[in-house]
Amino acid sequence: MNLDTTDTLTPHAPEGLRPPVSPYGARLLHGWYETGRPAGLAEHLDLYGPLPRAAADGALVTAVEQSGLTGRGGGGFPTGRKLRAVAGKRGPAVVVANGMESEPASSKDETLLFLAPHLVLDGAVLAAASVGATTVHLCLARTRVGQERQLAQAVEERRRAGRDPVPVEIHTLPHHFVSSEETSLVNWLNGGDARPQATPPRPFEKGVGRRPTLVDNVETLAHLALIARYGPDWFRETGSPETPGTTLVTLSGAVRTPGVYEVPMGSPVARALGVAGGPTGRLGAVLAGGFFGSWLPVPLNGVALGRGAGVLAALPEDACGLAETAAALAYLAGQSAGQCGPCRFGLPSVAEDFAELAWGRPGATLLERLNRRLGVLPGRGGCRHPDGAARLAASALRVFGDDVLRHVRYGPCSPAHDALVLPVPPARPPKEEEWR
Ligand SMILES: Cc1cc2nc3c(=O)[nH]c(=O)nc-3n(C[C@H](O)[C@H](O)[C@H](O)COP(=O)(O)O)c2cc1C
Ligand code: SF4
Repeated sequence: MNLDTTDTLTPHAPEGLRPPVSPYGARLLHGWYETGRPAGLAEHLDLYGPLPRAAADGALVTAVEQSGLTGRGGGGFPTGRKLRAVAGKRGPAVVVANGMESEPASSKDETLLFLAPHLVLDGAVLAAASVGATTVHLCLARTRVGQERQLAQAVEERRRAGRDPVPVEIHTLPHHFVSSEETSLVNWLNGGDARPQATPPRPFEKGVGRRPTLVDNVETLAHLALIARYGPDWFRETGSPETPGTTLVTLSGAVRTPGVYEVPMGSPVARALGVAGGPTGRLGAVLAGGFFGSWLPVPLNGVALGRGAGVLAALPEDACGLAETAAALAYLAGQSAGQCGPCRFGLPSVAEDFAELAWGRPGATLLERLNRRLGVLPGRGGCRHPDGAARLAASALRVFGDDVLRHVRYGPCSPAHDALVLPVPPARPPKEEEWR
């Protein structure tokens, strides 16, 4: 097979349409380009080659370390280091494949699981064999019913073929923003609520069934499946030396053909927007990394894709970045697990301040209060939920500085801003029973 690694960028059209472009550069989505439909097991093995023999001899851990693969679930942590840490613990381990994708502006994991389920499953069982795990738990969002059915079929197909060294169990969890955080998954798998837990111990020390647990994003595992086949040097042939490989990005907002695309890591953001047909008009800013990410000012001046969640949302010039941010913050405040001070008090206050700034008549003291509240949000929660929200809010104040002054002086702008560009779900806090 030809796994062309030139860095031509390749789109996947949403709604299952075959994208009208050449496959060059696609790695994870390569099979899709070959056939135009999700790959069954035989087809998958034909395209990518047989599943390499997985052994707990450390060879794959070393290969992943050398590849420079970093987590594609948002944190960008080196995957090899995580594998090494779990492999170094005593007793049988557990692998958790995180396919929850709670980020509202992202659909890359859903797309990957739909188009290349066996690549993800390959990666999960190979990772399991390399760290001495006896079980793989694939965690999916309960709201995506068709997804569970499709993956159950894929797992059954593999079971009948008798190829996997480790069994895969599928679980469907409550779908809230923080229920996809790694300690939420572990706690749910241990019989509790899908809410973040205090650390330490971190899952790699004591996770599912108190065993050392590797939690990886499904895209990360799919890359691992290719590294196991083609090696770390091949993996580094695209991307940048610091951030090698490709990454899936969900491109939305004011671009001509929104969808999920595979691009080299470290691509200029302007170039990535170009693969979605480019902007539909003049842009006001670009949100990189989703609701936990940051607004980027335009012109983009060569700024490159970072390691955060693979999301780019292009904001048209006439949209209000403050209103978009206020809506996202209200959603994030409603989605907290309500366990720690910053989430119970700090985040709702920041969201209220932002709503006043975006839609109200902000008083003279609002900015000072907002900045003070923002300053004490990061680093104090049980998980990184408040940190992500604070990052988004701070970047909005920076990038939309002129709008902030205008809003403080004259109040909100035109009613056209009622329609949001970002896909913000309703800000409804989950009910107590909805965490299990
Ligand atoms: C509030 C919150 C939500 C998260 N949601 C996801 C998610 O939907 N999918 C995901 O893979 N990681 C998510 N993460 C990161 C996970 O905790 C974990 O770091 C990740 O699954 C590890 O995989 P990786 O190293 O392959 O990126 C979230 C983290 C936080 C703080
Ligand atoms: S910071 Fe928020 S979401 Fe995270 S554990 Fe505390 S209450 Fe839960």
